[in-house]
Amino acid sequence: TTTVRELYAHKENYLNKEVQINGWVRTLRSSKTFGFIELNDGTFFPNLQVVYDEGLSNYKEIAKLGAGSSISVSGQIVESPGAKQPFELKAAVIEIEGLAASDYPLQKKRHTFEYLRTIAHLRPRTNTFSAVFRVRSVAAYAIHKFFQERDFIYVQTPIITGSDAEGAGEMFRVTTLDFDKTPRNEKKEVDFTKDFFGKETNLTVSGQLEGESYCMAFNKIYTFGPTFRAENSNTPRHAAEFWMIEPEIAFADLSDNMKLAEDMLKFTINYVLEHCPEEMKFFNSFVDKALLERLGSIVNAEFGHITYSKAIEILKNSGERFEYPAEWGLDLQTEHERYITEKHFGRPVFVTDYPKEIKAFYMRMNDDDRTVAAMDLLVPGVGEIIGGSQREERLDHLEKRIDELGLNKEDYWWYLDLRKYGGARHAGFGLGFERLIMYLTGMTNIRDVISFPRTPKNAEF
Ligand code: 4AD
Ligand code: MG
Repeated sequence: TTTVRELYAHKENYLNKEVQINGWVRTLRSSKTFGFIELNDGTFFPNLQVVYDEGLSNYKEIAKLGAGSSISVSGQIVESPGAKQPFELKAAVIEIEGLAASDYPLQKKRHTFEYLRTIAHLRPRTNTFSAVFRVRSVAAYAIHKFFQERDFIYVQTPIITGSDAEGAGEMFRVTTLDFDKTPRNEKKEVDFTKDFFGKETNLTVSGQLEGESYCMAFNKIYTFGPTFRAENSNTPRHAAEFWMIEPEIAFADLSDNMKLAEDMLKFTINYVLEHCPEEMKFFNSFVDKALLERLGSIVNAEFGHITYSKAIEILKNSGERFEYPAEWGLDLQTEHERYITEKHFGRPVFVTDYPKEIKAFYMRMNDDDRTVAAMDLLVPGVGEIIGGSQREERLDHLEKRIDELGLNKEDYWWYLDLRKYGGARHAGFGLGFERLIMYLTGMTNIRDVISFPRTPKNAEF
């Protein structure tokens, strides 16, 4: 048994040889004496054309196969007379593995993304989602490769946590159900005082704080895992469950941090362009006609740099009519972010030094005492894709900030210890993995780049 990917990679090894391919029928055409199957085995983006004829013992059954059926085909790879494909599979035997019922929802017409979200369990069998999730897989690998080659240690931080990493209170509580006293099939009132065997815990909003602890031991670390935010915002860019990559580097400041983010992003874009050429061409034709040009130009361009204060000035003088005003002290809205990166710069741009009031407690205070050493990376088409900062390494400053924000110092005792015992300058950032995939594919809704999206009113699967 081989794969369609292998056939395309080493065509010369397979021409006029016998192979077996297992996959799913995308389309099937048949006449009285012969027919064609577009077969997809999931390993390669284009389908494999299978030619079959009445010589097959089960010809009549094959000719009636519906889209979605799974089959196993043995036969010879031959040069294809058609211009659409370099070769085809001339079937000697076709075994039917599983029939698809006639109400198979993926028929040949193009379905809307909205509809496909309602059949999230079947949509990976479409061209678009097959391409999205292959790019997602390759991008994940590229990110690991980038960090591993630079001697970063991959740390798996906990999903159930006792502290609020962002201090923003947007968390999902974890509760223990008391199964000892309740039969499984009986609904029971949830006792929220139970929590995690008596301790109040939540699903992590970020692995950063735990990551910082490992950074103070390994120098350079990264995390890559799921995170959860209980923000009830129904936007195309927010999900309640998303994946984040969070590197943390010691003996480093904000400019080292920005350099790392830029290198990582360029490496990942290059890697995906190189390893997913068919998928990227598909996105460029059917999703966003400017995609390849935009990504190509970014790989060679220097990212822009601007302070938050300067960005506010630009927005105020832009003459644009924004839905929300741009005012010093207010957070940038998506419309502002997109104006800065798309209209003003026309490329990715780091916005730095935000007012302390709109950023997290752990960010390093600047000398002006009003702004912190924060950086957001904004990219055309998406807006914020990365958020990061230099961390406050000075114990007294950090304690003061925790107090000012009304957070509980006891919750962060171990985090404060990191400053007490050999705390060093350090910085890090979080890359939203789904936002990266949106950026790489041109897909405009986060629900379409995550296998089973968790958004408000969307937890059916
Ligand atoms: O800006 P955020 O909240 O930063 C942090 O969590 C820091 N602890 C990161 C760090 O410094 N180690 O989130 C980082 C990124 C955002 O830029 C965005 O790309 C993504 O995570 N993100 C979301 N993606 C999807 N849905 C959501 N609800 C998201 N919230 C943040
Ligand atoms: Mg942010």
